[in-house]
Parts: sequence; structure tokens; C-alpha cells
Amino acid sequence: MKNIDSYTHVRGESVYLDDIPLVNGTLFASVFDSPVAHGKIISLNTDEAMSMPGVVRIFTATDIPGENQIGGIIPDEELLAGTHVHFCGMPIALVVATSDKEAKAAVKKIKAVIEPLPIITDPREAKEKGELIIPPRTFQLGDTTTAWNQCKHIFEGSTETNGQEHLYIETQGAYALPQENGAIRIYSSTQGPTAVQRTAARVLSLSMNQIEVDTTRLGGGFGGKEDQATTWGLMCALATYHLKKPVKYALHRIEDMRMTGKRHPYSSDFKIGLDTDYKIIAYEATFYQNAGAAADLSPAVMERTLFHCTNSYFIPNVKATAYSCRTHLPPNTAFRGFGGPQGMFVIEAAIAKAAEQLQIYPLVIQQKNLLKTGDVFPYGQIAQSEANECWDKAIKLYDVKKLQQEVADFNSANKLYKRGIALMPICFGISFTKTMMNQARSLVHVYTDGSVGISTGAVEMGQGVNTKILQVAAKIFSISPDKIKINSTNTWRIANTSPTAASAAADLNGKATEIACLKILERLKSVAAEECILSADIGKTEIPPFELKEEWVYINGEKTDWNWNKLVMAAYIKRISLSELAHYTPPGIHYDANKEKGHPFAYHVYGTAITSVTIDCLRGIYEVDAVKVVHDFGSSMNTMIDIGQCEGGIVQGIGWMTMEEIVYDKEGKLRSNALSTYKVPDIYSVPKEITINSLETEKDNLAIFRSKAVGEPPLMYGIGAYFALRNAVKAFNPAAVIPYDAPMTPEKVLMSLYQTPNP
Ligand code: MTE
Ligand code: HPA
Ligand code: MOS
Repeated sequence: MKNIDSYTHVRGESVYLDDIPLVNGTLFASVFDSPVAHGKIISLNTDEAMSMPGVVRIFTATDIPGENQIGGIIPDEELLAGTHVHFCGMPIALVVATSDKEAKAAVKKIKAVIEPLPIITDPREAKEKGELIIPPRTFQLGDTTTAWNQCKHIFEGSTETNGQEHLYIETQGAYALPQENGAIRIYSSTQGPTAVQRTAARVLSLSMNQIEVDTTRLGGGFGGKEDQATTWGLMCALATYHLKKPVKYALHRIEDMRMTGKRHPYSSDFKIGLDTDYKIIAYEATFYQNAGAAADLSPAVMERTLFHCTNSYFIPNVKATAYSCRTHLPPNTAFRGFGGPQGMFVIEAAIAKAAEQLQIYPLVIQQKNLLKTGDVFPYGQIAQSEANECWDKAIKLYDVKKLQQEVADFNSANKLYKRGIALMPICFGISFTKTMMNQARSLVHVYTDGSVGISTGAVEMGQGVNTKILQVAAKIFSISPDKIKINSTNTWRIANTSPTAASAAADLNGKATEIACLKILERLKSVAAEECILSADIGKTEIPPFELKEEWVYINGEKTDWNWNKLVMAAYIKRISLSELAHYTPPGIHYDANKEKGHPFAYHVYGTAITSVTIDCLRGIYEVDAVKVVHDFGSSMNTMIDIGQCEGGIVQGIGWMTMEEIVYDKEGKLRSNALSTYKVPDIYSVPKEITINSLETEKDNLAIFRSKAVGEPPLMYGIGAYFALRNAVKAFNPAAVIPYDAPMTPEKVLMSLYQTPNP
């Protein structure tokens, strides 16, 4: 089935925030944000700005009627700076004017005197100074201290992974409208409508039932709108609260890049020990997460790093510690993979280093240590593994031996071009790591004309969740998809939603929809039993086998003259409910954060990617020739969408690992603040070939229709590109000592190609 949004997308008819028709009298907001990363606000002069044409009002922290507090996990973040600023881009004042242009012009006239305070941008320095967001956490399995004795080979090292700009095509924004009795409706480009609602209520001192948040779709979120859409919804709501006028704020790209947080950069240390057989016996890792100036989602992201610190491998002795370090960067936030990729990079670097020193292919170590069903993760969950299945299928299907030989042949035949190849297995846990968040609701209405309307907590952001939910209803009811409409995500229709995140939206909301549809179907079946079966078979006490198939009622395998519409109408006439609100929560998941043990994930997604690259050894530029994947889809319910998610994830992962370079200077100012200085993969730099084969299994899992979550896992295949590039550089300059420092930009490739070892 096609993505239901493709028609309106292609015709430019899909409704994003900027497509919502404006109500007469709408005002426009713009934020004055901190020009310095850390300081005390001495004075703020808004006089000149106030006198600018079109300016209606300028709000500061003192205008906040409730709590000036937007922290989702920890209350440590102000909406508007009170006395201090903690990062460049921190909102200080909100200008509201009759046009967007006027608001932006007035922002430029605001003058702030800020007494500078010391700035930290480095997470290790923050840790040294005790600047931690939460106490460190440690995951442990076995006993590494004694295990080192059993190791024949031990290697240590450090790694860096940089941040990543979300670059959703639709920037952050919101539109707030005053309603009766002080209520406010907020159209928000958010992954978390409830987060916007809850926080708006807190900041405006209203109750949650007075805030309606409505989201039709996002032009991409990628985690960047899980928590950080809230700020912009609240800015608009604050102005609406005071002015009783509709207020809109859609950020310019440069504002968005400057003021919002990104993927967390990490600095990490590893120590890995192998036996003579290349079995990994022990692994230790320490992660320094650059959280930025406030907690935001950092504690949860840090936790997911620990959950993924051994990637797709079984290691009997593990000790992994993570520090969430407070720096003066914009608070970093969720980004596809949610800390998992940062953890997985480190174990891959450790394996690469071991292989390099042992002069073997990394895949020898990777293959020998893949998780098997029954193996235990460091956090206590027992693996239901597809790691070997994916790996073996990839090796065979793509003939890795031949690929390696081709690379070797190419490299001996070419001086100025070199190729590299790398394998990247993945293992990604599906469920919010916070067990409580794994719940969803679906509201299904069947109308008397036979059409169906569905509301859930899921937000469509390009990932196709609406199509999947629609498929669920179409399948359960056995009716045409044309009869079904998925409605906007709205906090007055569906309450207390978890954000659309953790790749779990289709599972959670799809299962809730399945339950709701089944309940309605059950009632329709009893109507059918009473009405059409009895009328067809009067006198029989036993109900003959009947079913609803493609909108028709069948009795004893024979089509009757009762169809879906007739049945629906009959139910209505009999005063039977044609609506259902269902609740779903996945069974069996739990986690004890005191012991750091439990069963946090409903299941894991596995896969293996083979990435090959060619570098130009004169210029340092490169191409990704191919990414060949075997991916564990379970049993895909929509291959077009799922393959699209794989392709998008792979390209985004490659971007993170190779070219996207976030640069903050020592003053905490973002230097890569526009698309001229921040490069993302374009049509020329995407892999020339992406081949995705599926591992289809009959095994049971907790995914919707056994179709495993696919949103985030493929991003981590991109890590393979980093290691393929290193291997290519090594083919040219075997002496190069390349730090494990991603992204591997063309500049870094060039420098490593001509690096001479230190004397
Ligand atoms: N795909 C598109 N096109 N746009 C997005 O913003 N976000 C990703 C992924 N795929 C995203 C996307 C992220 S970070 C997540 S968590 C999942 O989609 C969320 O949606 P799901 O739970 O329905 O998979
Ligand atoms: N994944 C993604 N988003 C989240 C999570 C998670 O585990 N927890 C809270 N937000
Ligand atoms: Mo995705 S990072 O869980 O929004």
C-alpha cells in the first residue's frame, strides 16, 4: 500500500504549520536570544524595539504567570531567561508585532548588557568541575576487573562523535489561538503534543484541560521536536494568553539552527580484552555526554547509550559508565537513535582498533561475538537474537569475500584512488526506556455512512505512521482504505500521549487501534448474528460460520446481501456503539534503575550493513559506492514505507558520520549556523547504491502485525561508512594513526592520507 500522504505531498496540498489559514488579527512573534553563552543579565533595554513600527508588546520572564520552567525530566530550564543566560541562543525576550518582518526588525533593536561568566563547551572539563546533569550511571555484567586476566589481547582508546543538526525541512513553529473562557488552542509542529500541553499549563498557570494542542503533520522531526517544540508553542501561547490574539511563530532556519539543541556529542574511553580466539572477554567504556546547558532529554539519551554499549555483541564482562555533562551549549536533545548510535560507535571503534593491532579483518571479531538467542544483555534482558541470521545472510547474499577481494584488487591497481569496506551489525531496543511511557490510546469512530475516523497519539512526520494505522483498521474491519481517515493528533481527543518517538509509534498506537477496531467488530458481528444470519437461517440455534470479508458478510463461505454499510446502519438503529477508545500497553516490560537490570525492551531489531567507499587520494574527497543491507523487518506490513525508512536512516547516519560537522567556538557560538557552513548529504553524496534485503521471520514478536519498528535502527548502518573510510585511508597510508573522531570529513581524510607518524 502506498503512503497515504504521497498524493497531497506531491501536489503541495499537505497541511504543515505554515499552511494553516491565518485568523484575522494574527500577530507574529520573534525571540531575542542570548548573544553570549554564559552570563548575568545586568540590564535589558527594549525601549527602541517597542517604538518600532508594528510592535505590539515585548514579553520577558516577569510576564510569565505560572512557573518559568520548561524542563521535561528535570526542572532546570527557563522559557525566558530570568537573571542568567546559559547558552548562546537562550531566549531572553519575545517580541510580538503585526508582521513577521516587523517582529524580527524589532528584535535587532533590543539591547542587553550581560556580564560574562566562564564558559565550558567540553564535556570532560564539565565533568572535572562537577557539572553533571544527573549522577553517573553504570551498567555491569560479570566482573571486568578479574576478566582482564583471561584476556590475551587488551586495547584501549578514546573516541569522539560530534553532534548533528536535525535539519527537519519544516523548521520549528507554532500558532496559538485564544478560545472561550481563557482556553488556548496551539497548533504545534511537535512530536509531543502532550508535552506542549503540559508545559503550557505549567507556564501559564492553567489546567491541562484548557490547553488544546493540535498537530496535523510535521515536515520532519527526527527527535528535534520531541521536547524542543515546546518552547515555540509556549512562546505563542504566552503572547496569546496576555493579548487574547492569535500569535504565530515559525522560525527562520538560522534562528532554528542557533537556538535549538542537536544530537549529543560524546567523548568516550574504551578498553577491550580478547582471548586467543578473538572472543571479547571484557569491555569497559566511559561516556562523557555533552548535554548542553539544561537536562532536556539528556538523562534518557544517556541511558539509551548504556543500553546500546555492546551493540550486537555478547560480552560476558562489561562495565559501562556514563556522565551527562552540563556545558554552555544549547541543550542537546533526542535525535534518531537517541544515544544508541553514540554507544555503538565506541564498541565498533574498540573492535576496529583491536583488529588493526592484530592485523585481522574487524569482521573476524565482529562475527565471533554476535549475540545469540539466550545471551544476556548487560542490563539483564535475554536476547531473542537475529544477529547471526542477518549477518550470515548478508555475507552470503552479497558475497563479502568477493567484495573484499575486489577492494584489494582495486587498491593494488590504483595509486590515487583507494577503496575501503566495512561491516556494521546493529541491534536496537524497541520501547521507551522509561517503561511508563509505553502506552497509547486510539479513538475509532465508525460513521453511519460506513466511513471511519481514527485519532491516536501518533504524530505523522514523514515516517508513514498514519498509513500503518490506517492499514490496521482496514485489515481488522476488512474494508477499503478509502473509507478510513486518520485525523490530526489532538490532546482533546487523545489525552496523556507519549511523544511519537523511540520508533514505537506504529506499535503502540497501531495496537491500540487494533484493539479498538476489534471491539467494534465484535459488536458488529453480534449485530450480524442477530440480523443477517438469523434472517438467512431462521430456526437454527447455532450460529453458522460467518465472516466479514472485503466489506461483505459471508455465511458458510457464501456471500450474503449484507455489506459493511448495511451492518453499520443496522448497529446504529439497534443503538449499538460504533465508537471505541482503546488503550494499549506492551506486556512484560520492566526495569529497575537501582539494580540497572530488567527487561526494558519489547524486542530488538537487528541487521547488518556492508558499506564500501572510494576516496580520491589527491583531494581527500570520497564517494560511498554501496550500502548493502540485510535488515530484520520481522514481517513488514508496508515494504515501501519500511524501505524508505531504511534508506533515509542510512543517508542520515552517513551524514552524521562523514560530513555533518557542527562547530561551536570556545565562546560557545555556533559557527556552522547555516546551510552554507553545515553540509548535509545531497543527491551527489548519497550512496550510489543502497540495497536492502529483508530478514523475514515467522517468529512472534510484540510489533504491530509482527512488523518490527523501523524508524531509528537503520541510522546506525551509517556508522559503517566511517570505518570503511578509515580502511580506505589505511590502504593509502598504512602508517596513519587516525583518531576515532567522527565525522570523517574530507578534510580529515586528506590530513590522514598525508599524515606522517610522529618521530
Ligand atoms: N522519518 C521521517 N521521514 N521523518 C522523521 O522525522 N523521525 C525518526 C523516524 N523516521 C523521522 C523519520 C525518528 S527519530 C523516530 S523515533 C521515528 O521515525 C518515529 O516514528 P515511528 O515511531 O512511527 O517509527
Ligand atoms: N527513546 C526516544 N525518545 C524517548 C525515550 C526513548 O527511549 N525516552 C524518552 N523519550
Ligand atoms: Mo526519535 S529520536 O525517538 O524522536
